[in-house]
Amino acid sequence: MSTGVPADQHLDLTLRVNGAARQVRVPPRRLLSDALRHDLELTGTHVGCEHGVCGCCTVLLDGQPVRSCLMFAVSARDHEVTTVEGLTPDGDGLHPIQRAFQECHGLQCGFCTPGFLMSVAGLLDDNPDPDRNEIVEGISGNLCRCTGYQNIIAAVERAAELIAQSSGDLPRADAGEPAPERAAPPPPYGAAGPDVPGAARDEDAGPEVVS
Ligand code: FES
Ligand code: FES
Repeated sequence: MSTGVPADQHLDLTLRVNGAARQVRVPPRRLLSDALRHDLELTGTHVGCEHGVCGCCTVLLDGQPVRSCLMFAVSARDHEVTTVEGLTPDGDGLHPIQRAFQECHGLQCGFCTPGFLMSVAGLLDDNPDPDRNEIVEGISGNLCRCTGYQNIIAAVERAAELIAQSSGDLPRADAGEPAPERAAPPPPYGAAGPDVPGAARDEDAGPEVVS
């Protein structure tokens, strides 16, 4: 895409990110992922492959998941960008999707997690009650190297439950809502969970959700 601006010049842009207008001064070929991380210090958006394969850099553009490493910042002008920080705009508590990933042990190192969270936010906004195949399809653009997808699928199913119990107002957070009780003891790692067929659950809180 040509921006019509010499590469050695800079553009003054106003981006709408997480509901606020943000000013950036960037080269015309500045990637949206880099503008978010380096210019706006929204480092919750991770960068893995930088060529559209891993999904770590996923953000919402007008509510739809997109890879922020595949578009220029200037292309996001006139659109609403939501990053993982926008799931909890008050910086307090966890969004139901984050809680679900924590409950279901849907992360280990957490590097891929912001991208998964945003893909799932887009998925559940479009389809609040996806079946397993729809979940697999919805996260098929995100790669995880260490958790395994069973727990992530379980987390998406749990997120749908939690959102149905709450306002369901994605991607806004329900910060401050108390965490749900954890009733059942955990099955062995990799075994089917008691309430989500085919999915493992682990009651160990594990690492903090990366945001
Ligand atoms: S960093 Fe964008 S898809 Fe991998
Ligand atoms: S949690 Fe480590 S890559 Fe997914």
